[in-house]
Amino acid sequence: MPRVTFIHPEGKSGEVPADLSLLEAAEQMGFPLNHDCGGNASCTTCRVDVVAGLENLSDIDFDEQDLLDREALIEPYRRLGCQARVLGDVIVQVPEEKWEKTSLDTSQEVETSSQ
Ligand code: FES
Repeated sequence: MPRVTFIHPEGKSGEVPADLSLLEAAEQMGFPLNHDCGGNASCTTCRVDVVAGLENLSDIDFDEQDLLDREALIEPYRRLGCQARVLGDVIVQVPEEKWEKTSLDTSQEVETSSQ
């Protein structure tokens, strides 16, 4: 199975079944990426920067390329996590602000609001 590594302050790496999207792989590994449009290639909140293994991702289709072009994310290493499918080992950098809040963050919000 391909190994996917998400570069992140907490560092996360693991093996996932081939042909999962990076978004699905992240969810399976317990690091859900933001995906405001539900994985429909229309928001870019799932965007990642590929550090290694670009050739091990599925080709960019029209919808993904169109959105990346409109958002001026034209560098070839930029991919949408919901569209790029894992075909082999890959290492991606995820902007910190792209990660959903952890359950710890949620509990802290609850404690704050109950005071
Ligand atoms: S989740 Fe919106 S573009 Fe990927």
